[in-house]
Amino acid sequence: MEPILTAANLTKRYGDLTAVAGIDFDIAPGECFGLLGPNGAGKTSTAKMIYAAVPVTGGCLCVFGRDITRHAREIKKLIGVCPQDVNLDQDFSVLKNLIVYARYFGIGAAEARRKAEELIEFFQLGDKRDRKIESLSGGMKKRLLVVRALVNDPRLLILDEPTAGLDPQARHQIWEKVRQLKKNGTTIVLTTHYMEEAAVLCDRLAIMDRGRIVERGRPADLVARHIGRDVIEIEDPSPAALEEIEAAGARHETFAGRTYVYTEDGRELIARIAREGQAGHVVLRQAGLEDVFLKLTGRQLRE
Ligand SMILES: Nc1ncnc2c1ncn2[C@@H]1O[C@H](COP(=O)(O)OP(=O)(O)OP(=O)(O)O)[C@@H](O)[C@H]1O
Ligand SMILES: [Mg+2]
Repeated sequence: MEPILTAANLTKRYGDLTAVAGIDFDIAPGECFGLLGPNGAGKTSTAKMIYAAVPVTGGCLCVFGRDITRHAREIKKLIGVCPQDVNLDQDFSVLKNLIVYARYFGIGAAEARRKAEELIEFFQLGDKRDRKIESLSGGMKKRLLVVRALVNDPRLLILDEPTAGLDPQARHQIWEKVRQLKKNGTTIVLTTHYMEEAAVLCDRLAIMDRGRIVERGRPADLVARHIGRDVIEIEDPSPAALEEIEAAGARHETFAGRTYVYTEDGRELIARIAREGQAGHVVLRQAGLEDVFLKLTGRQLRE
């Protein structure tokens, strides 16, 4: 199948600053593709080039088989966007925001109203329908951005941190809707800092750092490739415990007094550590995407 989106040597510069430094990726129809990376990695800049909010500086970006630089208008009609920052019309009600936004896509007045009502129903926002934006909570505004992104029944949906700041209930609702949209064939680009979210929603993802893609693949494959099955976390390991870890040949690192051990068989190793009378707190858990993220992008703050 032809990809829905192809980026080749895609570059974004703002003056002297290179935010996206020549990246390559493609997205298949119906796929949910994740963009992960520390603050400032270039995720939003990449997303903005896809929805033609900022011009491409270099390389190629084709969406629906067309060059974004030459066909931005047609492409934008088929894309739904949930931007990272809330940009709702503060003076309008929830319903009016949706209607006005639909009208930008050339949707007729009656149809725009019907669509807005349908989305309000779909997201169970009936009680917020006539509320002004300024009176909504931060999380509620954020949810409304996701709702608004759907007014034009997009073939490609771009969600830039759609669940940042949402409570667990609202986050799960968004996940459920994303799954539903995927089932209906919508292609999705998702950026997030919630590793669990990326793991459950993304078919494939790219981890970005300093404008480049440092790794890509299916979430479970990335965990298996970089970390293994289990992680043992030990607070202030005793010298004897460290010797056991060394003897087992397990990769490990210490950060802020806490030692992380990556292994295929945590149970066996933890039993050996326990025999050595490790005093501090010891936890065994499953390896996850966050371990991969930290391994590849480091533990230092970026911005
Ligand atoms: N309009 C702009 N003008 C100048 N520099 C910009 C602009 N937008 C972004 N940048 C810079 O480009 C780099 C990448 O920013 P971007 O917003 O793409 O990162 P991000 O991965 O989305 O980060 P975050 O996780 O914080 O949202 C950063 O160094 C940022 O300061
Ligand atoms: Mg961003």
